[in-house]
Amino acid sequence: MKVKIRVLPLGKDLKLKVGANLRTALIEAGISLDSPCGGQGTCLKCRVQGSGISAKFTELEREKLSTEELQSGWRLACQVTVEKPGEVHLPEVAVFRAKASFGLLGEEIPLQPNVHRRHFELSKPAIRDQRADWDRLAEYLEDAGLEPVSAELSMLQEIPDRLREGDFEGEVVLAGNEVVALDPPNSARDVLGLALDIGTTSLAAGLVDLDTGKVVALEAELNPQIAFGADVISRIMYMRESPEKREKLQKEVIKGLNQLLLRVCRIARRERERIFEATVVGNTTMLHALLGLDAIHIALAPYVGIFNRSLCVPAKELGLQIHPRGRVHILPSIASFVGADTVGVILATRLHQTQVPRLAIDIGTNGEVMLATKDGVLTASTAAGPAFEGGRIKFGMRATKGAISSFQATPSVDYTVIGGTIPRGICGSGLIDLVAELFRAGVLNRAGRMLVPSETSSSLAAELAQRVRVRGEDREFVVFKNGEREITLTQKDVRELQLAKGAIRAGIEMLMKEANVSTGDIQEVLLSGVFGNYINREKAVILGLVPPFPLERIHFIGNGAMDGALRALINLEERRWADEISAQAHHVELSGKADFEETFVRCLGLGA
Ligand code: FES
Repeated sequence: MKVKIRVLPLGKDLKLKVGANLRTALIEAGISLDSPCGGQGTCLKCRVQGSGISAKFTELEREKLSTEELQSGWRLACQVTVEKPGEVHLPEVAVFRAKASFGLLGEEIPLQPNVHRRHFELSKPAIRDQRADWDRLAEYLEDAGLEPVSAELSMLQEIPDRLREGDFEGEVVLAGNEVVALDPPNSARDVLGLALDIGTTSLAAGLVDLDTGKVVALEAELNPQIAFGADVISRIMYMRESPEKREKLQKEVIKGLNQLLLRVCRIARRERERIFEATVVGNTTMLHALLGLDAIHIALAPYVGIFNRSLCVPAKELGLQIHPRGRVHILPSIASFVGADTVGVILATRLHQTQVPRLAIDIGTNGEVMLATKDGVLTASTAAGPAFEGGRIKFGMRATKGAISSFQATPSVDYTVIGGTIPRGICGSGLIDLVAELFRAGVLNRAGRMLVPSETSSSLAAELAQRVRVRGEDREFVVFKNGEREITLTQKDVRELQLAKGAIRAGIEMLMKEANVSTGDIQEVLLSGVFGNYINREKAVILGLVPPFPLERIHFIGNGAMDGALRALINLEERRWADEISAQAHHVELSGKADFEETFVRCLGLGA
């Protein structure tokens, strides 16, 4: 017997056999859940949120998942046997891969890429028809409705051989109106595009088959520029020191992107020389660094960069190892601190087309806040700093194996470690959980001060406060201890998180005030960013990272900036929208607002 399992947020229905293992069934259906332990129940990476499906949690699930996770319906897919109809909600990290498997981006967005192929069949040269090779091809394409076509010199040099190889028949690959490749007839060679998201901390790449619109591989990596400063200001200052250092930063990011594009090509078994176009999003400083441009005026009042408009540059000028005649299309920015990554998020969320108030927050080293109403989109940039990505936190780390990613205190301390290993550190979502839980329990007061047992009144707080160590002026909460090995949350870590949280919350408050909307007016809150995938909504509200919205209005959208870059790759109309968004979004410069300082200070406190 088969039962219907609905896969969300894809809205895809699967008919699965009763008795099937959920992880295996999802993988067989093309949904590649992370499961490095191969279903042994040790990596804890195959989590999905489920309802229905099977009557009970298994013993292993009860042992490995926290009480809160169990209450929220989290399951280990490898441990679940399908028994009845139900729903599976995929974690955001799996959604892009699933979209790739199902080609959903291609379904959602009509396929109308800038790079496309056309079949041609030319009349052969003869004494009575002595048109030159290029003229012959160009006339054919123009007669077929294209604007005047062009070709680089290197392409012209190839044309005679290519035409004769195919006996004047074949496939032409066009980037806009430029002929970039000629293939023999029915060669079935790939036509690929690459979407790139250049973040201050992470790089991400999505490889797209432009014949189908399918995302065939999606990978992320640390931005190697991180060795030269954790935030944009330190990178700008580094670049400022000399032209050689600016060039060094450019080379680092290009090296990182080339490694990443090789990886996606290897995974998808495609040739990098068949990538004819890359679309790029990123914050303005990263885009300047990519092009080797001096970004100093972004950092100095009145904060003016070299470009905000969309740009198209030859890939070979940058050293990006795609097809030698490939192009790099950089999406436009909105303002010096609101880059093309924000435009990508707006495209992905369709904020620019909204009729009701909707809020989006791109959480990263820079936190961008977007508030859309029927009157348009307001944006603001906040200097959240690297705390959400583990930076400047004593035991901070990225959300990779060994990171404490969630935390609970009831009063016994319970936490989840990515990969199910001994903890090595704390990632952003773990940090939010820790601070929110300690605040809820009373170990941290509203001002963020860590309290010892004698300073607390509740028994829960007193029990947890036993873990607070006082070292001179410093205090720290012991999260994990095993012999010499320990992981602590220091008072300074709490301050760092307060600065990050305060910056984003103040940005939200300022935009709500500017648009004259209240918390109750906002119909949807979208959290974007690699980190945004893992945040516990309830803890984000307890911490006061976002106003006290009803939890069902808060949604994670994964890496919205990357989604925007993919859209711009697949459909030219999206690029036109991106240009419109850049021109029409209204940027609110928070530093220019008289009440920003006061709002920021008020938002530093813990709690809603
Ligand atoms: S695959 Fe389920 S825990 Fe590893």
